[in-house]
Amino acid sequence: MSINDYTKAEGVSQLPSDETEKQLFIIEQLHEQMQADYARTGKKKTYHVVTFGCQMNARDSEKLAGILERIGYAETDTEDADFVIYNTCTVRENANLRVYGRLGQMKRTKQRHPDMLIALCGCMMQEPLVVDKIRKSYRHVDIIFGTHNIFKLAELIQTRLNTGKMVVDIWKDTNQIVEDLPNERKYSFKTGVNIMFGCNNFCSYCIVPYVRGRERSREPKDIIREIERDVADGVKEVMLLGQNVNSYGKNLEHPISFAKLLQEIEKIEGLERIRFMTSHPKDLSDELIAVMGQSKKICRHLHLPLQSGSSRILKLMNRKYTKESYLDLVDRIRKGCPDISLTTDIIVGFPGETEEDFLETMDVVEKVGFDSAFTFIYSKRTGTPAASMENQVPEDVVKDRFDRLLKLVQQKASDASARFTGSVQKVLVEDVNEHDETMVTGRMSNNLLVHFKGTPDLIGQIVDVHLEECKGFYYIGNLSE
Ligand code: 5AD
Ligand code: SF4
Repeated sequence: MSINDYTKAEGVSQLPSDETEKQLFIIEQLHEQMQADYARTGKKKTYHVVTFGCQMNARDSEKLAGILERIGYAETDTEDADFVIYNTCTVRENANLRVYGRLGQMKRTKQRHPDMLIALCGCMMQEPLVVDKIRKSYRHVDIIFGTHNIFKLAELIQTRLNTGKMVVDIWKDTNQIVEDLPNERKYSFKTGVNIMFGCNNFCSYCIVPYVRGRERSREPKDIIREIERDVADGVKEVMLLGQNVNSYGKNLEHPISFAKLLQEIEKIEGLERIRFMTSHPKDLSDELIAVMGQSKKICRHLHLPLQSGSSRILKLMNRKYTKESYLDLVDRIRKGCPDISLTTDIIVGFPGETEEDFLETMDVVEKVGFDSAFTFIYSKRTGTPAASMENQVPEDVVKDRFDRLLKLVQQKASDASARFTGSVQKVLVEDVNEHDETMVTGRMSNNLLVHFKGTPDLIGQIVDVHLEECKGFYYIGNLSE
């Protein structure tokens, strides 16, 4: 139905009751308005999305960009745009500070362009204290929304334009999953696909369950349909996204395991690679290991956050596994998928962490030999159980441990990465090399990058590359004939 059909049939103010149709209807209204502006001014309005944080946010930003493109905005690569949106993260305090810094600068930009719109969304906006602060001290912000209602962007823009006032719309939680809205992929050949939202684990340091709400899985048929459409549109690689993909499907009306979902996705013709993120060690099943071991499409990479190697700290973190069970899991994974690359997240300086606890973490890093690890200094998040724990570790002690851990992680990662030297690997070419335009950069199944001589027409193709030399975290290679 076109916008005119609705206005004729239902009267001008009547909106479709189905949420997707309603949003598409508003997008169309804004689009017509935008075209009228364009006819008047001869200038196309621009947008810029700034994304902080994880892959989940990156995926949300593609959805936001999709809506803005459909309205008629054109993407630009600076914040000097007609519409700027910050998709925020709050997992560590640093991320919050960066957003305030950017907003401070935008005050001057907006003085130069009073008609521009500034929007804020994402995890940080789910914290009431943050929203209070922005309302009071950053009055130049036009629209604030959260993690549960990004599908409403067009409606929020319309409300802002109609009222001329700051629009704030934050939902505490939701069961709603709105399917089939536009989205603008960053790469034509790969994309993220949400398979579930939210988290029920309440690790004691983590703010995510408070800002992303309870776990909700999408129906397998909706996921499959989305991927089939993506593949028809040129996608070769998908990254299945969820805070804890291993508990996918448990709460669906017809429960299904993550391993079964993977088997269904594997059947999609034309799809070449499947990745997923993130796995919680407590829920990683033998069924999944078996499915990965047999699969032709699931990539040889598993991100398995350790957080700490001390069973005592893991208990305080509410992680529900021990050092021993983690190491045992790694053994089982390596038996089932011998060539797999393992990566991890580690937090240093959790409240009460002693030197002995820290040495347990070092021991696990030593034993596992991760292919790469993200190391984080513990950041106190208000409202989480760990924030009120005693024995917060002094800054200088944490810094010293962090430096020691980083050194070990880097040494182990470079040893582990080098094991593929001399082999030929399938590589999905992603970009022209940033520093040398006679080269391209691609990603191997195990997630390592390789740079090699090649032309831009290779982008989006899977090619065989001979790995000549490992440079620590990436390879230099040659296209294999
Ligand atoms: N402090 C430091 N790191 C954290 N993470 C989550 N919460 C915190 C926190 N409060 C890390 C965990 C998680 C990753 C995404 O961020 O390691 O796996
Ligand atoms: Fe945070 Fe733990 Fe949930 Fe991961 S599993 S998002 S660390 S609460």
